[in-house]
Amino acid sequence: MNKEEIYDHWTSWAQEHGEAIEATTRTQSAKSIELSALNSAFARYTSVDATPTTVLEVGCGNGVNCVYIASSFPKSQIFGIDFVPEMVEHARGSARSAHTYERCTFRVGDAMQLEEIEDLPTDFDIAFTVRCLINLESDENQRRGLKSIAERVATNGYIFLIENSQQSYARQNNLRTTLGLQPRTPASFNHFIDEVSFLEFAKECGLTLQGIVDISSLHDTVLYALAPSTNGGTD
Ligand SMILES: C[S@@+](CC[C@H](N)C(=O)[O-])C[C@H]1O[C@@H](n2cnc3c(N)ncnc32)[C@H](O)[C@@H]1O
Repeated sequence: MNKEEIYDHWTSWAQEHGEAIEATTRTQSAKSIELSALNSAFARYTSVDATPTTVLEVGCGNGVNCVYIASSFPKSQIFGIDFVPEMVEHARGSARSAHTYERCTFRVGDAMQLEEIEDLPTDFDIAFTVRCLINLESDENQRRGLKSIAERVATNGYIFLIENSQQSYARQNNLRTTLGLQPRTPASFNHFIDEVSFLEFAKECGLTLQGIVDISSLHDTVLYALAPSTNGGTD
């Protein structure tokens, strides 16, 4: 899909599912894993309990992650950006319902052009994405997205990226083939990240890799390989 088609896809999911988790994922168990991974990353790399921490989520959808972080870390100030206005409206609604509205700001904007968002700070303590960069339909656009995000983070800040990589997807498909299943293909609105060239580019941007955490291979192995191998191939 091109950018316009991807925009239409997320607009229709936002319209259909509103503030529900289904607006941004079909797999609720994977969403729980993502939230837990975010929680661990925040707890490890920040002192959010002690000092106000400013946080940017790029591609925030209907605000599930932002509201979760705002609720879990009561001193955090969150900024969520998404290019779909309906997602942003629902994110505001979710923050209101969770009583975190005063610490959550949501704006419409493009991940690759954050400089166009009025008054968006350039010194966030933390910026993160969850399955946003995989919606940027080429390696080149993913690099533009990362650069744009890096420019918004303070010198000693952190960037957390929860994204699918081509390499881990290939490992999953190898296992499926070994078990006699057909390989899966990514959704048409996704372009998974090539970990090798992406990490090289991150270095060129002046970023230092702190680590890579494998958060869902056990989940995915069970869901997409072991279970279908026992039930005739259904995910
Ligand atoms: C899979 S959803 C994830 C939403 C949210 N991060 C979550 O985990 O619930 C991807 C989100 O990225 C947004 N997105 C895709 N391309 C974007 C772009 N170029 N700029 C900003 N947002 C974008 C979509 O509108 C959608 O809300």
